[in-house]
Amino acid sequence: MPNVATISRGIYKPHLQIEGNCSLSGELKVSGAKNSALVLMIASLLTEEPLIINNVPNLTDIDGMVDILLAMGVKVKRNLDQINIKADNLHHVELPYELVHGLRASFFCIGPLLARLGKAKIPLPGGCRIGARPVIEHIRGLKALGAFVTVEHGLVSASLAGSNKRLKGAHIVFDCPSVGATETVLMAAALAEGTSTIENAAQEPEVQDLAKMLNQMGAKISGAGGPQIIIEGVKNLQGCNYKVIPDRIEAGTFLLAGAITHSKIKVAPVIPHHLSAVLQKLRDCGCTIQIEGEGIIIIPGEITGVDLTTQPFPGFPTDLQAPFMALLAIANGTSIVTEKIYENRMQHVAELQRMGASIRLQGNTAVIEGVPQLSAAPVVGGDLRSSAAMVLASLSAKGTSRVEGLNHLDRGYENLESKLNKVGANILRKGS
Ligand code: EPZ
Repeated sequence: MPNVATISRGIYKPHLQIEGNCSLSGELKVSGAKNSALVLMIASLLTEEPLIINNVPNLTDIDGMVDILLAMGVKVKRNLDQINIKADNLHHVELPYELVHGLRASFFCIGPLLARLGKAKIPLPGGCRIGARPVIEHIRGLKALGAFVTVEHGLVSASLAGSNKRLKGAHIVFDCPSVGATETVLMAAALAEGTSTIENAAQEPEVQDLAKMLNQMGAKISGAGGPQIIIEGVKNLQGCNYKVIPDRIEAGTFLLAGAITHSKIKVAPVIPHHLSAVLQKLRDCGCTIQIEGEGIIIIPGEITGVDLTTQPFPGFPTDLQAPFMALLAIANGTSIVTEKIYENRMQHVAELQRMGASIRLQGNTAVIEGVPQLSAAPVVGGDLRSSAAMVLASLSAKGTSRVEGLNHLDRGYENLESKLNKVGANILRKGS
């Protein structure tokens, strides 16, 4: 039993012990997309009929969303990667702060609650380590649909304005293509009276997945995946049986695991066009990419530096900026990485520097001079994706690393160490 001093020194903090210099071979299995599954679970609030969602990843964020639905009186049953949801007894219009404050996606419930019950009270999602993450667009969109919205004491209260019994279709132009705002307005407008148009909509695959499921539930949505979405409101929606798309960010992380360890591996299932910008950057830095059925094979060559700037989809995804930087830290030559989506998503730079990376940070632009090899070190992931970057860097570093920040990692990566160990990594989860 560790003594108090040992524990206080943090030796027993949950962490991954990762052997470096590893090479991988075989196939890495991709789970369902976290950022799709979360919003599909929220969309279940739009109907009183049973909804079955398949290929749901086993993640702490999903656990959190289940708790939120249960707190609202929704019936939820999980069976491995299948979730059965029935919101016929939806009565709670207020989400409890202690359940929502760590899970930003829970704010998106405001759309279906307004559409279904005519009111909602949701704690304002605070910012997080990567940025302020306002919900201005979400509120603008709901107001355009006829909601009366106030924000007081950290609580967003929404109700139908005046004598309205139903939200009303509207023409909405977003200032920025917010993923969550697009999803929130999509769900609210699906049950509104009349037709709505969203201009400057987010085009992410997760938005498309939501629209596809809503249409299977009886919604009339066209244009999802493009900048303009048209929603013809209907009176009610039915249940359906739906399968979540593969997680493009997990898939991209796995491709980078192959690249950084100079290993030929297969990653499946993947929808290749969900990763076009990432596949292009992997080719540009010296990897051969082969599409094989539902999977992608990566064959790394000599890794050379490339420049990348994060953009809304279909541009390079911000969620793979940190993992990709781990690869560029050992590329031949110089790379310039610019983060344009979030104001503070460079926490992994300091940790990579501790592993010997040569990076100069100027605001949200990192200039990376590749080094031959990183050296193992104890490092901490400050958010979900920087934790993934630490795992990737440790796989290729010289020596044995210790990666803390598993509370972040487990939010977005299902059984990461067991998946990597199956293809040759040597990772031990300790202290949990
Ligand atoms: C979704 O967050 C994802 N989360 C994020 O993934 C992802 O990074 C992000 O989209 C961008 O792709 C989920 O889907 C649960 P946004 P979301 O609203 O909807 C600014 C991960 O690692 N903005 O498109 O919150 C905002 O500040 C997570 O899996 C405004 O300025 O993203 C941010 O800088 C992290 N005003 C940018 O837009 C607004 O009203 C993108 O935000 C709304 C957003």
